Amino acid sequence: MSLPRHVRLVEVGPRDGLQNEKQPISVVDKVRLVDDLSAAGLGYIEVGSFVSPKWVPQMAGSAEVFAGIAQRPGVTYAALAPNLQGLQAALDVGVREVAVFAAASEAFSQRNINCSIAESLKRFEPLMDAARQHGVQVRGYVSCVLGCPYEGAIAAEQVAAVAGELRAMGCYEVSLGDTIGVGTASAVRRLFEVVGRQVPHDRLAGHFHDTYGQALANIYASLLEGIAVFDSSVAGLGGCPYARGATGNVASEDVLYLLQGLGIETGVDLPRLIEAGQRISRVLGRESASRVARAWFQAGHQ
Ligand code: HMG
Ligand code: MG
Repeated sequence: MSLPRHVRLVEVGPRDGLQNEKQPISVVDKVRLVDDLSAAGLGYIEVGSFVSPKWVPQMAGSAEVFAGIAQRPGVTYAALAPNLQGLQAALDVGVREVAVFAAASEAFSQRNINCSIAESLKRFEPLMDAARQHGVQVRGYVSCVLGCPYEGAIAAEQVAAVAGELRAMGCYEVSLGDTIGVGTASAVRRLFEVVGRQVPHDRLAGHFHDTYGQALANIYASLLEGIAVFDSSVAGLGGCPYARGATGNVASEDVLYLLQGLGIETGVDLPRLIEAGQRISRVLGRESASRVARAWFQAGHQ
């Protein structure tokens, strides 16, 4: 199988990255991050979440962030919405694309959104109807596709069933999340092969957390399966509050470096992306988790 010529990068740093931070991060810093990312050429940015502030306090200011960003034409600014209430809050600030999130593991579904997988899918139905009425596109996530922090191994067939349901209810794309970063390349290839029987490969995306350092290998394995959309997080920010020990997503800078080396277009500018990662890392008071960003500065770039 030949590699795709173009890959769409879905930048989830402001959402998946920052949601896990305990320290307060100001709306100004969040807005700056999103604007830095769009300036770097990212065409799709997940800005925040309209979830319960009791569950994820860091995302409580998402409406203010949406109100503060400089929306560039052609860029999609998306938000998570777990239910109708979340969609309504997103609509109130003019959000044009949301993402719903289900899990392939029952235990994770309970811990993350307080309901079973079947209940979550039922809950998405009125959201999907309302989104359709408002012309809002909906992306779907499936978590724990290669393993669950509570249940261990997850069958690819179970992932395929949930992904198929999300697609059938109208999600234009389904992103498969290795929430705890345990997957390895051969499991990833098999996963896309099995899920591909339910959802075509050009409607699937890969979302790899880098806990075990396998994310880039897993992205390469996905590319070999014809997957051309990947979620990543600038500076490797983040983790999931309901998956203890899960580190951030694969760093966007590292994914971009890989793709550039493979001659795959993304439209993203590496130095500007590194700069965006550097600025938010300074705000958080720690070194970037991106290996490419670290090497960049060690090589004397400013
Ligand atoms: P619940 O407690 O079962 O909800 O939570 P409820 O419907 O019974 O409502 C309880 C309270 O929450 C009420 O407030 C509601 O108004 C409020 P109260 O009357 O007690 O004051 N509420 C809301 N508030 C704001 N926005 C809303 C909303 N909905 C209800 N949308 C719920 C169920 C889904 C709301 C909750 O469990 C929740 O918010 N969970 C979010 C968890 C989350 O955001 N996790 C991280 C994102 S997923 C992820 O990171 C994985 C991913 O990256 C992929 C991967 O890596 O695998 C996507
Ligand atoms: Mg995630």
